[in-house]
Amino acid sequence: MQPTYHLQRPEAIPSPSLLVYLELVKANIQHAIDVVGDVARLRPHVKTHKTPEVVALERDAGITKHKCATLREAKMLAESGITDIVIAYQLVGPNISRFITLKQQFPDVDFKPIVDHTSPIRQLSDTLEHHHLRTRVLLDLDVAVHRSGIPPGDQALALYKQIADSPSLEPYGLHVYDGPVHENTFEARQDACAQVVEQVDAFKQLLKQNGFETPLIIMGGTPSFPFFARVDGVETSPGTFIFHDYNYSTRYPDLGFRPAALLLSRVISASTTGIATLDLGYKAISPDSTDVRGVVWNLDNVEMDMQNEEHWMLQLPSGLEVSPGDVMLVCPAHICPTVALHEQLYVIDADGNWIDTWPVAAREREID
Ligand SMILES: Cc1ncc(COP(=O)(O)O)c(C=O)c1O
Repeated sequence: MQPTYHLQRPEAIPSPSLLVYLELVKANIQHAIDVVGDVARLRPHVKTHKTPEVVALERDAGITKHKCATLREAKMLAESGITDIVIAYQLVGPNISRFITLKQQFPDVDFKPIVDHTSPIRQLSDTLEHHHLRTRVLLDLDVAVHRSGIPPGDQALALYKQIADSPSLEPYGLHVYDGPVHENTFEARQDACAQVVEQVDAFKQLLKQNGFETPLIIMGGTPSFPFFARVDGVETSPGTFIFHDYNYSTRYPDLGFRPAALLLSRVISASTTGIATLDLGYKAISPDSTDVRGVVWNLDNVEMDMQNEEHWMLQLPSGLEVSPGDVMLVCPAHICPTVALHEQLYVIDADGNWIDTWPVAAREREID
């Protein structure tokens, strides 16, 4: 049977809650593998789902390596049996000693943090040396985002040399995230990605001239995924693709992924004509979208209006009446921060039955 967004017996599930359509998740994983061709070049970012059961689905499909942002995500991956983990976040302050704890807890796991500055590199190396530990690291390259990373060039080369000269660090390659490669048309994204590839290639050559190989180059997120998937020798690191969402599916229909997670909400008040209020405030759906935060999936022509912490008002088209308790399925604009608002995922099978509940284990930050 084709996967659908049907839901049997919604009365069994409290609201607001996050439903995950299992067959669609599996289809998104398979589509990613088909696009990249070689599953060894797929390193999904775990931040979208933060859930061991999803890691298990990915492993069943042949995916053995991951990327993460937080140490808790790294720990969850290690507990799930993943041994190749890139921590796409520079470790500073207490995170350096927390990282040591993690390495001590999982001595067989190859954790690879990213770095972009001389002082965290020195502190990381010194602390590791003190504990007789070593780690591989990736240099974070800034190819236009200006969020993290160092622009390719002489300073970046100097950092790579610093890593190589650090007794407890091994330079293992480059991390390149292209946040702004979010151009809507396929052609514009293709051009933007080509420019990123050009910069990375030039820097790779510079490293080579200075005697350095780059065993690992990790590039991109979901919008750029089909383009970097075609570049030999690089790994791709999409995150959102796995659950996908309203923003990406409307902006980039060419990607071929489908939204696999919907919010279950209910009308809690409908006493004023033309208005209904849902139990879906910004404590249950991410407020980070500046425009649309989500779209009602099972009603047409409904306009989202003011939202508070636990309320969301809808404007109803004339003639449409709803009642308290009516179920509304909402596709979130941005799934990743929405997942982090939920303690568990309600897993729905292809027939619309709720079959399982998965804790969002890595939504916390503690690792002890
Ligand atoms: C460093 C890094 N890599 C990969 C991704 C995945 O991007 P996307 O969510 O577009 O798949 C993100 C997203 O935030 C990111 O910050």
